[in-house]
Amino acid sequence: MREFSFLDVGFTYRSLQAELDAAYGRVMASGMYIGGAELSAFEAEFAAWCGARHCVGLGNGLEALVLPLRARGIGPGDEVIVPAHTFIATWLAVAQTGAVPVPVDADPDTMNIDLSAIEAAITERTRAIMPVHLYGAPVPGEALRALCDARGLMLLEDAAQAHGGRDGNRRAGTIGHAAGFSFYPGKNLGAFGDGGALVTDDADLADKVRMLSNYGSREKYQHELAGGNSRLDPLQAAFLSVKLKHLDAWNTRRQQIAAIYLERLAQTPDLRLPLIAPGTQSVWHLFVVRHPARAALRIALGKRGVPAALHYPVANHHSGAFAATFGQRSFPVAEAICATCLSLPIGPHLSLDDASEIATIVDQVVRSL
Ligand SMILES: Cc1ncc(COP(=O)(O)O)c(C=O)c1O
Repeated sequence: MREFSFLDVGFTYRSLQAELDAAYGRVMASGMYIGGAELSAFEAEFAAWCGARHCVGLGNGLEALVLPLRARGIGPGDEVIVPAHTFIATWLAVAQTGAVPVPVDADPDTMNIDLSAIEAAITERTRAIMPVHLYGAPVPGEALRALCDARGLMLLEDAAQAHGGRDGNRRAGTIGHAAGFSFYPGKNLGAFGDGGALVTDDADLADKVRMLSNYGSREKYQHELAGGNSRLDPLQAAFLSVKLKHLDAWNTRRQQIAAIYLERLAQTPDLRLPLIAPGTQSVWHLFVVRHPARAALRIALGKRGVPAALHYPVANHHSGAFAATFGQRSFPVAEAICATCLSLPIGPHLSLDDASEIATIVDQVVRSL
């Protein structure tokens, strides 16, 4: 029996080994292990790829959300609107600044933030709205951007899962005032370690975030802000430059696999397929279906060589980190997603034939439950 992989982070190294080894050799020989030309080159390339003016390489995706909030002076006493259903880092980024995350339930079709419920969550303390392009699917931003501009709020995209996703002609990262990306190894664009980036058209914001990521300093020993240390290192930047050239092709493969799943599983009983908002294009970081007997389905798929994963099984308001503050609240759509979601294998390590075979197995297994 064939055993498929859910994720194969070694795939990109094996397919680009010569180029990646050359990048490694170049950085090691350069003697420049923090900052420098490799980092600046990647920042310029990634900004251009997204269609933004500025990119600031950072230590990880969490910091890419925390630092722009801090740079805008958001902290204790402030509120930031977040989706109830997201990876917990979105909420933690707000909490780290001292501000309060204000959750808005999910849209049951797209699983992204319910756009129709955002305005009612705005109070006099709201300073920012942080939509998440969850599973690679962009949140449509035009009305949201207009709302933020009218109310003087920051629109900060959590684009950690959506490198290359599109809302109309805009790529993720250029929909709001700024965006945080993660280069965690399993992401569509992943480093060989931790990494992240801020992307923005706002030169002042980029400058402040860069300072905050480097001890509050532009020039050595001139510490204008009480910053920290959160930098993308040039070795990771050099690897990311190599991988960026292949990202469009990898994203296309993900989209082709998703199209196969969507077509082949459309008639599968009780299986709820992901729906992408009109006018947007997902880059399918994850392909998340929903089924009432999720646990049994997962076990049965595993026996047929198809590993499936959970993104995410525990709602953020029920997690230990937030239960004391939000545990009594109810976000029924997010809770239902957590109880029924199941992620099928997707990624450039799978061929289109693999995707067809997986779709056949999923359909058969669901019907046999
Ligand atoms: C939606 C979301 N936001 C933020 C992050 C944080 O990124 P990192 O793990 O690079 O800190 C992640 C990824 O882990 C994520 O999936």
